Amino acid sequence: MTSRKITKAVFPVAGKGTRFLPATKSIPKEIMTLVDRPLIQYAIDEARAAGITEFIFVTSRGKSALEDYFDIAPELEMTLREAGKTELLDVLHKTNMDSGAISYVRQNQALGLGHAVWCARRLIGDEPFAVLLPDDVIAAEKPCLQQMVEAYAETGGNMVATMEVQPEKAGSYGVLDVAEDNGDIVRAKGMVEKPKFGEAPSNLAVIGRYILSPNVLTNLNEMKKGAGGEIQLTDAIAQELDGGSSIYGYRFRGQRYDCGSKAGFLQATVAFGLARPDLQDEFAEYLHDVIELQKVAK
Ligand code: UTP
Repeated sequence: MTSRKITKAVFPVAGKGTRFLPATKSIPKEIMTLVDRPLIQYAIDEARAAGITEFIFVTSRGKSALEDYFDIAPELEMTLREAGKTELLDVLHKTNMDSGAISYVRQNQALGLGHAVWCARRLIGDEPFAVLLPDDVIAAEKPCLQQMVEAYAETGGNMVATMEVQPEKAGSYGVLDVAEDNGDIVRAKGMVEKPKFGEAPSNLAVIGRYILSPNVLTNLNEMKKGAGGEIQLTDAIAQELDGGSSIYGYRFRGQRYDCGSKAGFLQATVAFGLARPDLQDEFAEYLHDVIELQKVAK
């Protein structure tokens, strides 16, 4: 199987983020912070580790904070330099992106994830590409997209990250219809977006990392509405099977946090806080005390 190198990644960030209102009235969800880094930084770092060199953001009104985040901040840098704060300067430099490495396209109406990806079609061109949803944060020894790029080099086709979910949760995800399960890699014979309870074809949910053939963009030209009246990426990927292309689910190694939901965001905050050497002792002690106090209160 021959597969092309993946150098372009799309970051759809044009959603409304209604689950985080009122915060998202003026702050893009992707700028919300896990410990001291915005969600988008985790996604960018993961993409870089996987060899991505072109970063395509699909944005919308009210997301300018996101665009500014990746620019050089000369005044701030000068202040830090004058104060001799070299460690903080290093932290800041890691957020800078080379000129021309990032491009932005607008989705002028939130018509669905499929539509958001389709908006990037001219920048993607005729090559396979990655999609990362920044609100799915994945803690992993080897970054998730890197794992997928390595697996994709063997399989080609289309690849989605997948993980097992409880049957009652399947209705919140795209779900794989499994043809062949080889452990890490699963070949799919179908995909269903947000199945009704009891109708999910498996317990393997698709989460926000994809490596897709450019033909998916052609499928999206049809602008078919799917679950929730939205133009769904899942449907356009599933359509690939009609033309004889393959879809693989990749069971990544790592822990995924749904930072698009309040509970997931809080869990990620605890996990990432505890993983930080500069915070873990104090934070673990605090959490321990909170739990002990709760026990006493019961
Ligand atoms: P979500 O389903 O989490 O939607 O989108 P949302 O609007 O961000 O959040 P809620 O549900 O209202 O709280 C998943 C990803 O797809 C992007 C979002 O920005 C997010 O990264 N998206 C979704 C778009 O870019 N455009 C869309 O039309 C829909």
